[in-house]
Amino acid sequence: SFPVFTSIPEYRAWRREKLLKGETVGLVPTMGALHAGHLDLVRAAQKVAHHPVLSIFVNPAQFAPHEDLARYPRTLPDDLKALEDLGKSAVSAVLVPQVHDMYPLGITLEVDKQRGAFVEVKGFSLQMEGITRPHFFRGVATVVSKLFNIFQPDHVFFGQKDVQQCVVIRNLIRDLHFPIEMHIVPTTRHEDGLAMSSRNKYLTSEQRPHATVLHDALELAAAQIKGGAIQRDLILRPAEQMIREKAKEIANPSWDVKLDYLSLVKSSDLQELDSLPQDESEAIIVSGAMWVGSTRLIDNVVLGKL
Ligand code: PAJ
Repeated sequence: SFPVFTSIPEYRAWRREKLLKGETVGLVPTMGALHAGHLDLVRAAQKVAHHPVLSIFVNPAQFAPHEDLARYPRTLPDDLKALEDLGKSAVSAVLVPQVHDMYPLGITLEVDKQRGAFVEVKGFSLQMEGITRPHFFRGVATVVSKLFNIFQPDHVFFGQKDVQQCVVIRNLIRDLHFPIEMHIVPTTRHEDGLAMSSRNKYLTSEQRPHATVLHDALELAAAQIKGGAIQRDLILRPAEQMIREKAKEIANPSWDVKLDYLSLVKSSDLQELDSLPQDESEAIIVSGAMWVGSTRLIDNVVLGKL
């Protein structure tokens, strides 16, 4: 069984020992409520690093005051059990830091009142997810920078499920010269296509079957591209239509399915495209967000190599 550190200095002592032996660390940053997607990141880490390690930390800085910080699922005993169940030495260590250790100057969700150091990756953070969550990627880039400094990882693992997060972190590593190799792991899905997510726990049993429409719609958009469509409208409109049809199907007064946005961008700049670029070497990201009742789901399909 692996050590579970709550103190940063204790983790650092552990890390120093590994460094002296020339052993590498592969970090999987998480907010807990672990599911099969997180475990696939751990498996990817096992393949490339001597020591797969996790952080479990619900990061206040990436939540807006109106968002779900208070009710975000916190299931530490189950999380540790799931990691134990992966088998002997599947995980080398877990750090569960305290909020006041991660944010020694304190942290408030009101950005104007914050104090301390924050990291922004400009140009990638205000579009797509950033439209409704303008401080989200600032919170992510900040906590991930702190985690990189604490963990001193050789490798880090992020899920394609959060594709904009992957692009933000890739540029963070490049621009701040973190000596770290990043690995992007494909999205783990339920059998019906729904991307695994800690927030799926919010879905009622009545809502759950309808949550698959986002993935279906994104696959439809990808099929349009594979079928030769070039124009944005031709690519995204059938997908939008599919989600609108689903919304109509749910004749229900208490909750509904509502598209937030669909996006079509190149991975290099995350700028919305009116039509696909001629140069086919660039990865194209088709992504979107959808509300099922009060639960917001995101998903994406990538064409080409991220
Ligand atoms: P969290 O939502 O817990 O996700 C942790 C990691 O698991 C992220 O890299 C995410 O992309 C990945 N992941 C989630 N669902 C996945 C799935 N179905 N398939 C593959 N990978 C999946 O993302 C965060 O936490 C936070 O923003 C964090 C990076 C920890 C910073 O606070």
